[in-house]
Amino acid sequence: MLAIGLLSLAFSFAGAPISTQAISVAEIQGDSFRSPYEGQTLNDVYGILTAKDKYGGWISDVPSSDPRKSNGLRIYGPRALRGVDVGDDISLTGHVAEYRAASSPNDLSLTELNDIRDIIVFSRGNHVKPVLLGEDRTPPYGQPSAYDDGPDGWLSIPNNVTRLEAENATLRPDLYGLDFWESLEGQLVTVPSPVAANFPDRFGAVWVYGAWPVSGLNSRGGLTVHFPESDGAPDAHNGAILIGHPLDGTKLPRAYMGMEMSDITGVVTYQFGNYYILPLTAPDVVWAPEEWARRSTLHSGTSPCELTIGDYNVENMGPRSWHLRTIADHIVSYLNAPDIVFLQEIQDDSGTKDDGTVSADKTLSRLTAAIARVSLYEARYEYAYVAPENDMDGGQPGGNIRVAYLWRPEKVSLVPDSPTGNATQATEAILDEQGKLALSYNPGRIDPTNAAWEEARKPVAAAWQTSTGERFYTVNVHYSSKHDSSSVQGDARPPVNGKSEQRAAQVNVTATFVSSLLTIDPDAHVIVGGDMNEFLQTRSVFAPFAGLLTDMNAIAGVPPAERYTYVYEQHAQEIDHILVSEAVKAKGGSVEHIHVNTWAASKGAQTSDHDPTVAKVRVCAVEGDGSPYGDQSDSGAAQAPWNQIIVL
Ligand SMILES: *[C@@H]1O[C@H](CO)[C@@H](O)[C@H](O)[C@H]1NC(C)=O
Ligand SMILES: *[C@@H]1O[C@H](CO)[C@@H](O)[C@H](O)[C@H]1NC(C)=O
Ligand SMILES: *[C@@H]1O[C@H](CO)[C@@H](O)[C@H](O)[C@H]1NC(C)=O
Ligand SMILES: *[C@@H]1O[C@H](CO)[C@@H](O)[C@H](O)[C@H]1NC(C)=O
Repeated sequence: MLAIGLLSLAFSFAGAPISTQAISVAEIQGDSFRSPYEGQTLNDVYGILTAKDKYGGWISDVPSSDPRKSNGLRIYGPRALRGVDVGDDISLTGHVAEYRAASSPNDLSLTELNDIRDIIVFSRGNHVKPVLLGEDRTPPYGQPSAYDDGPDGWLSIPNNVTRLEAENATLRPDLYGLDFWESLEGQLVTVPSPVAANFPDRFGAVWVYGAWPVSGLNSRGGLTVHFPESDGAPDAHNGAILIGHPLDGTKLPRAYMGMEMSDITGVVTYQFGNYYILPLTAPDVVWAPEEWARRSTLHSGTSPCELTIGDYNVENMGPRSWHLRTIADHIVSYLNAPDIVFLQEIQDDSGTKDDGTVSADKTLSRLTAAIARVSLYEARYEYAYVAPENDMDGGQPGGNIRVAYLWRPEKVSLVPDSPTGNATQATEAILDEQGKLALSYNPGRIDPTNAAWEEARKPVAAAWQTSTGERFYTVNVHYSSKHDSSSVQGDARPPVNGKSEQRAAQVNVTATFVSSLLTIDPDAHVIVGGDMNEFLQTRSVFAPFAGLLTDMNAIAGVPPAERYTYVYEQHAQEIDHILVSEAVKAKGGSVEHIHVNTWAASKGAQTSDHDPTVAKVRVCAVEGDGSPYGDQSDSGAAQAPWNQIIVL
């Protein structure tokens, strides 16, 4: 089946390799996602072998003057290239196919030649000059595809409205990320000075970007999902690319965000739902950040009205979890033992054992005891939660994860006189006997039987008072996860944002509740925090919060690229938020995301998959001594200082 031409014979052909029938690789690749020659068997396909793997290899033909048409091509057939070496100039006959794994209908397809025969080797030892990315060709900012054209770009909802390949549009590599990588499919490229954007994924592949312009670059060297400078849609970091296993069997470095490597040369391919570069050999580590997470600079104030609020998704923490002690250490040593801590993913007292247990008293008393020990008995916390109904809130089977509050009783306490709600009782805004805004259950769940919370964690609201009796209100949420999302580099456009409709409904219910508080008291100090499993850049999901709540990052002026608590694929992202009502916003405040986990040395060294956040806010209409907030020295009593935003 293999017809490898004798070199002596082949050399005699070398002067006239192009027959009139020959179709160039660029014509086979064409100027759209699928090959115009799909299904045809072509003779005399020419190219130099640039790389080999155990399933075949890649050839490179003369470059096309049309940048939409790649001159590289996958040659498929585990035995097809036996006897052919990298650098050989060959011709062959093959069948043009668009490969997509049957199990992955959302993948884009890879153009390849299979059923290979009639290989002729013309010469050996040829060198193909790789495309120098960032120099010869540069990935564009903006959207992955022309069909990510809603107001939120690739994050627009509804999603999955178009199938990219079925549209058969002409590639626009100057405008769209997928078109850019498609126009290089099969080509040999060099990534100069690649920097890792994340840890290796579970298959060992690493997202990197090279020495070309990127947006949302954070101080660590990651790429943060951020609002566009103009009114446009958020950037999708098209300039990030997955680096797969090196073709020579060497191993990629154990990368983490910000690690810089030596130049990577490899072939562009598509597999497992993403474009990849398969390097010819593994790069070396050139430089890596050696600075680890810093503790928060925020400390609880001396004023009873100045509070620190921590927020931490502690990733499936039960009473016997190995990481309970580390979480306690983070709360004390990195968050400075905030006055209130919003926790998510607290498991019941039997951990993942699915035995009907729903109480989390053991989990939380072990955590508060560990915090007390770590802090040398300085930080003593009380806790509260509402036990879910068994197996009704989703998450790890048997774990019954829920949200919970910790607080330091010397600073704040729950407003008394209302009972704690149970799993099905909805807490409501009421006026109590003193004519003050209170909650009917305290703490209590928000509308827990609403369909928005099916198989999801219910938010828990609480009414608090400072030691001087000033009230404020919190909602601790953990919205549904993005499970069942489709690849950002897949066929569905915009990509499927798993459970985004459910999250939108959850935001709606939360917003309705916050509105009910503000209807009774428009100046209520309300803080909504937790793991919302969504970026604020998915504006449609958060629309019900608009005009009601403000992101603490915006109030504190945190640079957009530094707003992240999680890293998924190439994107550093903020999915944990602290949002506050107008009364809190007006008094200013600070917030810090503490990168104990996104800055870990390896995925295995993470304590949780989320970073904690700590905010400092002011929650009283007036200070304990009756004087308003702010510098009163020359503004006089006439000006209400809470109309200004004060950045601490
Ligand atoms: C996306 O739409 C296609 C039909 O075009 C459908 O087959 C597929 O199930 C949808 N995927 C999701 C996750 O909704
Ligand atoms: C895609 O468009 C090209 C030209 O625009 C055409 O030749 C080709 O047949 C189309 N392919 C499909 C699958 O419709
Ligand atoms: C909550 O309490 C109410 C009133 O006592 C009761 O009817 C309901 O069954 C309780 N729900 C749960 C889940 O225990
Ligand atoms: C929640 O959704 C309902 C029904 O679509 C709508 O009427 C209401 O205005 C929404 N509430 C908020 C706060 O957006």
